[in-house]
Amino acid sequence: MCGIVGYVGERNSQPILLDGLKRLEYRGYDSAGLAVVGPDRRLRVEKCRGKIIDLEQRLLSHPLVGHLGVGHTRWATHGAPSDENAHPHTACCSEGASKVTVVHNGIIENHEEVRRGLAGHRFSSQTDTEVVAHLVESSLNGRADLRKVLSTVAGRMRGAYALGVLVENEPDLLVAMRRGSPLVIGLGEKENFIASDIPALLPHTRRLLILEDGDMAFLRSSGVEVFDVRGRRVRRREREITWTQAMAEKGGYKHFMLKEIFEQPHAVADTLRGRLNGGRLAELNGLPVKRIERVVLTACGTSYHASLLGKAALEQLAHCRVESDIASECRYRPNLFDERTLVVAVSQSGETADTLAAVETAREGGAKVLAICNVVDSSLARAADAVLYTRAGPEIGVASTKTFTTQIAVLLVLALDLAERRGAAPASVRKAVRRGLGRGAAAIDRVLAMSSEIREKMEPYAAARNLLYIGRGRLFPIALEGALKLKEISYIHAEAYAAGELKHGPIALIDENMPVVVFVAQDETLPKMMSNVEEVRSRGAKVIAVTAGPVESLKSKAAAVFSLPPTEGWVQPIPMAVVTQLMAYHIAVLKGTDVDQPRNLAKSVTVE
Ligand code: G6P
Repeated sequence: MCGIVGYVGERNSQPILLDGLKRLEYRGYDSAGLAVVGPDRRLRVEKCRGKIIDLEQRLLSHPLVGHLGVGHTRWATHGAPSDENAHPHTACCSEGASKVTVVHNGIIENHEEVRRGLAGHRFSSQTDTEVVAHLVESSLNGRADLRKVLSTVAGRMRGAYALGVLVENEPDLLVAMRRGSPLVIGLGEKENFIASDIPALLPHTRRLLILEDGDMAFLRSSGVEVFDVRGRRVRRREREITWTQAMAEKGGYKHFMLKEIFEQPHAVADTLRGRLNGGRLAELNGLPVKRIERVVLTACGTSYHASLLGKAALEQLAHCRVESDIASECRYRPNLFDERTLVVAVSQSGETADTLAAVETAREGGAKVLAICNVVDSSLARAADAVLYTRAGPEIGVASTKTFTTQIAVLLVLALDLAERRGAAPASVRKAVRRGLGRGAAAIDRVLAMSSEIREKMEPYAAARNLLYIGRGRLFPIALEGALKLKEISYIHAEAYAAGELKHGPIALIDENMPVVVFVAQDETLPKMMSNVEEVRSRGAKVIAVTAGPVESLKSKAAAVFSLPPTEGWVQPIPMAVVTQLMAYHIAVLKGTDVDQPRNLAKSVTVE
């Protein structure tokens, strides 16, 4: 839920660690801290509640000097945000023992039990993390083999962790351990790095070593050794990533979110490259596609909204039997997965704990798993039988934008592929969707050109307390996503309903203080949506309409109309989603909220 960075090498570590933490700020946090081992082999820690800038202020008066260090941004789970609960956590309770300091992402579920077993240890925080430092310290007491000690410690911890560990008398050793929480190693020249997320490494290296669950790595300036859960030396694949530093910087935009909204024409085109020529997706070749009788899509947040559109496309184009399930629900349902089920797990990060748990359940039942994911070699990508990558590049804004539209693009390509393999939708329909997708980037460009118009027309709604979003069929997931975007970054309460549900409850909320955003397609749902417009208007609501092509009759009925050039019906949700992103963005800017790091939210939710 937060950021880890670590450095060992020839350079002074403090500026590298601070820069790394800043590059992970987008993940959301409430406190920050650093620990550095100095040339005198002494370990020093500085940490505080608040932003990295607060930490920097403290460091001005006592900078940390040394070639080995770890840094952390914390998003509180166990223990309130405070100076004491901020990481790193250090143990130094046994006489003559070396100080041990740790930074941790994840949750140590048996922390209370472990704490009780550590008689004589003085704890200074309420966190689950602090017990790890004490456990290492007490296990290390008088024993020389750190590798064995850490293997034993790993065996005593239940739950998920990504850990960076420093031991005071080891001035050239940074230890990394992971189980269930993401952690990558960056390989440099005479220096090596750890980070919970790739953007922190981009200024230094693009050579990565991806740790497996249960792995422990010893990083020194001269190289990296990896050990498995039993402490045996193992080799892990080195990978060169294509993301660049510039991709993870604002590049002149006021916010990452705005940059990422404007990157969508490229992101969608990149994602579709080589996938629209009518050939079958090579990525699916390992899957027993013909034997699949049921598809279950699972995801969280924005990715779940994309999966709803995927469900519609897989049903209607590929004639599959499809369910779409929120991952945090899916993981606790009875395990009805079997080898005839294909689970499609959709996740930008590939690290969302609930999505990973749902996949694990599905695999236990014998299902095959296809991941739709943006981060290469993420935990989800590695857990799946096959992966379709969205090629959106790094997404820094907490509120997902380009990864949503690229997920839709991939799900449509998947539906087309399965349609062909199963002999479902006619070739002419598949061709039309392909052609539409090929024009998707241009359709987004036309929405981006409307950005000022969207800002002007949405200005009156920055003062609204509530908004309702309604849509039908393929545009209902866009209503859900539009409402989520607004909630996330402007803190205005917004709800989405399938427009047909309006009369079953939400219409009771309608009055002149409840603006209604209406998504209007040019298909059989058009007359029904027009009736909904009448219903809410006659009760005083202002209507904001987003339409596929001009709808004459709306001009006199809506307070604002955003008329998009019509595109193929399955592709239309993509530019419509971009309108909702710009609506939310401009309202949030008008309200002065923290667009890129909205309160209480984290970019990827790696704990339950
Ligand atoms: C968090 C983020 C959302 C994201 C969701 C799922 O809640 O704030 O923007 O949609 O996690 O993340 P994933 O990485 O699995 O798509």
